[in-house]
This record gives sequence, C-alpha cells and structure tokens, in this order.
Amino acid sequence: MSDLAILGGNPVRTKPFSPWPQYRQSDIERIVRTVESRHWGGFPYPTPLATEFCQGFAELQGAKYALPVVNGTVSITVSLQVAGVGFGDEVIVPAFTWDGTATAVLAMGAVPVFADVDPDTYCLDVESVRKAITPRTKAIVPVHLAMRFTDMDALMELARAHNLKVIEDCAHAHGGAYKGKGAGSIGDIGSFSLQESKLMTSGEGGLLTTNSLEYYEALQTVINCGRASLTDEFGRRMIGLNYRMTDLQIALLVGQLEMLPELREKRARHADLLTSLLQGVPGVRTLPAQAAITQPTIYTYVFQYRPEPGTPAPHRDLFVAAIAAEGIPCDGRFYEAVYKSDLFYATPENCGQLAVGRDEPVDYSKCCCPVSERAAYEESVWLFQFELIGEEEDVCDVARAIGKIGSQLEKLSQQDPSLAGVKAMGRAQRARFERKKNY
Ligand SMILES: Cc1ncc(COP(=O)(O)O)c(C=O)c1O
Repeated sequence: MSDLAILGGNPVRTKPFSPWPQYRQSDIERIVRTVESRHWGGFPYPTPLATEFCQGFAELQGAKYALPVVNGTVSITVSLQVAGVGFGDEVIVPAFTWDGTATAVLAMGAVPVFADVDPDTYCLDVESVRKAITPRTKAIVPVHLAMRFTDMDALMELARAHNLKVIEDCAHAHGGAYKGKGAGSIGDIGSFSLQESKLMTSGEGGLLTTNSLEYYEALQTVINCGRASLTDEFGRRMIGLNYRMTDLQIALLVGQLEMLPELREKRARHADLLTSLLQGVPGVRTLPAQAAITQPTIYTYVFQYRPEPGTPAPHRDLFVAAIAAEGIPCDGRFYEAVYKSDLFYATPENCGQLAVGRDEPVDYSKCCCPVSERAAYEESVWLFQFELIGEEEDVCDVARAIGKIGSQLEKLSQQDPSLAGVKAMGRAQRARFERKKNY
C-alpha cells in the first residue's frame, strides 16, 4: 500500500490547526457591555464606538478616514457610486478574483471589463489594464490578492493619465503596505471585507478608507439612507440605502484590530519559513518576493503548481486533494476566471448596461485572460492563514506534506483523476474546510 494518505496511507498530520476566528475574554466582555448599553445598531452614523474604532483602522492603513459598512461587496458598490461611476460606464477589474469584485460593478449598472493578472503576483497586470481602457472607462479596481500587490505606482500613473478613479479591493490586505503606503490609502477609496475568513472579522462586514473629505462625506450619505454627512462641507446629495454596520459588530472588531499586528507578524514570519522549506520541492514554485511590499500581510499563502514539463504529473486538483488528505487544508480552484464562473451570470437580458449604446452587446464568452485561467484551473494552490498562526511545527507539517506529495508526482499521475473529485473541487472542498475549520 502507498504511504500517500489519499491512497490509504497515514496522513502527515491529524492535529487541528489554530481555530479561526480568534477572540479573547476582553471581546466577550466588550460584547456584554455593548448589549447592556442598549446601543446595538449603527445609528446615528457613524456611532461614537464606530468613530473611535475607525480612527484606529484608518491609522493602521495610513488613511485619513475610515467608515464601517455591511460587507465587502457593498463597500465596492458604494465606492463606485461615490466615485461617479454610472449606468453603462466601464470599470476594469482583474479576471482572477472573487466574483464579487466584478458583480459589484454589475450591481451599479456599470460594465466590468476584465484585464489579466501578472503571472508572478496574480494581481492586475498594468499592461493588460492599459489595453482594456476605452473612452467609456471610468474606474479601475485592483485587488491586492492573497499576499501580493499590483504594481500600484504604474497603475496610479496610468489612472491619472486617463482621469480614472481607483478603488482598491483590499479584502485580503488588512494591515498590508506597499512602498510604505497602507492598502486602501493609495487609490481614491479602499474597500475591505470583514467576512468570517478574513484577517479581521465581525462575521460579516466591510470597511472603507479614503484620504478625501469629499469621498468620506459622500460615503456616509450613501451608507446612511442619503442623509447629509456630519460635516457636509461638500453638500453632495445622493441616493443612499441603509448599509450601516451595527455596534455589536464594532464591539467585536475592536479586539480584532488589537490582535491584527501580532498575528500579521507571525503569519509573515511563518510564510517566509514555509517559502524556504518549499524550495526544491518537485512541482512547486513559490511566488517571487515583491520588494515593493513594505508590510506583508498574508490572507492565504499561495504557491504555484508547476511540474517539470515532459515529466508525468497529476492535474493540479489531484495534487491539492493529495495534500488535503495529508491533513493540510488546501484549495485549488479557490477562485475562477470570473467571466467563466457560474456566479457571474451577466447577459444583456439581465444586465441592460451590456447592450445600451453599443452596436453589439458585451459578450463575456469571448473573454480571454490566459494567465488568470491558468492560475484558476491549473496552477494556483491556496493554503489558509490559520495554518500560519500557530507554532513553527505547524508550518513544518505543511511543508512536509507538500514535500511528500511533490516527491510522488509520478505515482500520483497514474491514479484515477476522479480521486480528486475534480468536478466537485474548489467551492465544495472549501465549504468542507469551513465546516471542519479546525482539523
Ligand atoms: C477579493 C474580494 N473582494 C470582495 C469580497 C467581498 O466581500 P464580502 O464577502 O464581505 O462581501 C471578497 C470576499 O470574499 C473578496 O475576497
């Protein structure tokens, strides 16, 4: 019998990794105090508790202002609205990201235009963005994906030259910095998700950052049913809905913010250790270091599955399933090329903006972003941040498991690919991990 756990052998690890989310006794006490205060909601907006928390978060990201909002998808829609993106306008987004980056654009009546990602960072490729700009383009949404950044200097220069707004999707980048500037403080507005798997979480939730008082005020208006902001210096009147976060959630976030720096250092240290341990493992290419990152933050540890051309090797999904079977939570199809995803249901019939003012409606079946497709379906391997917040021994187990699989690629290539449950991989596998979270 093989020693590979996926073939019935003993797994490298049976011990659970660190639980996520993390909380402390002080979080429970703060929640109790909030319950007892009877101020549970988010009105008046922003509440005193939210204002104090947001000052701390803005400081962490090096931005002037921060605001809470219901989640990290609405934080993108409200950013687009405030930035002046309207019906039929085009917004450039990466093809390799969570679907919500693009569906938020659709929800605002605008047209997502997909640009490809860089093969070494999996973040927006600036040359691909340049080619995607048309007279209809109004904004760009770079995503600081997983543990890297887009070349933000080049992107900002391009955006300013074409008078385009930049909304940074920082759903993975709490506490991260590029050339000394915090994520969300470089473009016009930064959008953060606080969904349960994220580096800071209130179960669900989102945060916005900006250096512009005009945008700060307008965001308050859009999030708070159209009401004037507290300062109202710019007097912008806009349609708003109720997108307020509750004080019960803010009470959780205070502790999350306090814990972030220590966890961030630990993840970064353990990510470096993992990178060094993975050198030379067959089939594994770690992402090249990015010198521009002055404060790393690791939402997921991503590496590339690149077996030696011409040597027998299994599909990426079987490679990932074999690692997972060793007791190491791991995913392959974590994200799709969004234009191919079932969740990106964009047709001229249900999204009128794809047809209006055009000879031919936008047809996403014609999209082709080869780097994104390779990343999504063949190459990227995702490990989760909670694997990096425990002991060094946890990281050594992760490396041992990957090394074990890497050294048996040929044997694995002879197995039935359905072992990986190839069709069901990705989201289903992730859901399984989420349920068992701590194995
Ligand atoms: C890159 C990216 N953008 C946007 C979002 C949307 O955030 P939320 O789930 O809080 O709506 C997520 C969350 O998964 C994400 O990963």
